[in-house]
Amino acid sequence: MLNHARTISKTGLAAGVIALAVTALPGCRGERTNEPPRQFFPDMDDGPKQKAQSQTNFFADGRAMRPRVENTVAFGLFSAVGDAKSSNNLLAAAGKARTDLLREDSAYYRGMGADGKPLLKIPVKVDAAMIDRGMERYGIYCASCHGYAGDGQGTVGVQWSAPVPSYYDPTFSDPTNPRGQDGHVFDVIRNGLKNADGSYRMPAYGDKVDAHDAWAIVAWVRVMQESRRGQMSDVPEAQREAVRQKIEQLKAAAAAAGAETAPAAPATPATGGQK
Ligand code: HEC
Repeated sequence: MLNHARTISKTGLAAGVIALAVTALPGCRGERTNEPPRQFFPDMDDGPKQKAQSQTNFFADGRAMRPRVENTVAFGLFSAVGDAKSSNNLLAAAGKARTDLLREDSAYYRGMGADGKPLLKIPVKVDAAMIDRGMERYGIYCASCHGYAGDGQGTVGVQWSAPVPSYYDPTFSDPTNPRGQDGHVFDVIRNGLKNADGSYRMPAYGDKVDAHDAWAIVAWVRVMQESRRGQMSDVPEAQREAVRQKIEQLKAAAAAAGAETAPAAPATPATGGQK
């Protein structure tokens, strides 16, 4: 049975190769021709479709792209109608996409309360995954100016046309100052900060950072601030000794680095740097 199959497949293969050579030969001699190319699967080469911005006689107005239907809102990205809380993955994704398109929750999607004022606090529960995401996104979009440590000393920030503030400035911890209000920080991330002439002092990141990521970044900014307010009493008893040792090590390393660089300092005082 096996042998038989092998014989058939060998014969079949030989016949196939010959047939292919015969059909392909006239078209494969390297000659140039003005004839249209040979198409073995024409329906795959020329599938009927309308390209963006192209003309068509299918619609009365001659446009292939259709204008939005008046008084409608985007409904979703999936054909399924789902609930974001569904246990079915597809339905949950459909529900989430729909919620993001409708943006009905003004507080979450705009960072403003019903009174039009910035929210004082992030309107969702913050968990470790959200903070991780915020740290990652902050590193991509903000650290260049605000610095990885949030001190405003990023490589771009120190040369930027407007001074970049440090998140450790007390205004960022003052709830009566917009900087201390999470909804304001959210708004600054999405919409940037403009000068009177409309130019940006800080660029807007709303096209790259969606509402979920913007709140995650706000959470990370608050974590950075909180990290500098830490006291030894916040550390669990069992880990205090290890933390104390780490601090001593870091202090010693900083002192050693200072001693190394001090004699090498230039004789003439450094001027303003490369601003
Ligand atoms: C290209 C440089 C640049 C980048 C990138 C940048 N910022 Fe800024 N940011 C600035 C400058 C400059 C200011 C100060 C503007 C001013 O003086 O009003 C500022 C101010 C702020 C403020 C204070 C707002 C206020 O009301 O005073 C916050 C909060 C802030 N940035 C957060 C962020 C976050 C979060 C990101 C990342 C998504 C980011 N920035 C990315 C340059 C930048």
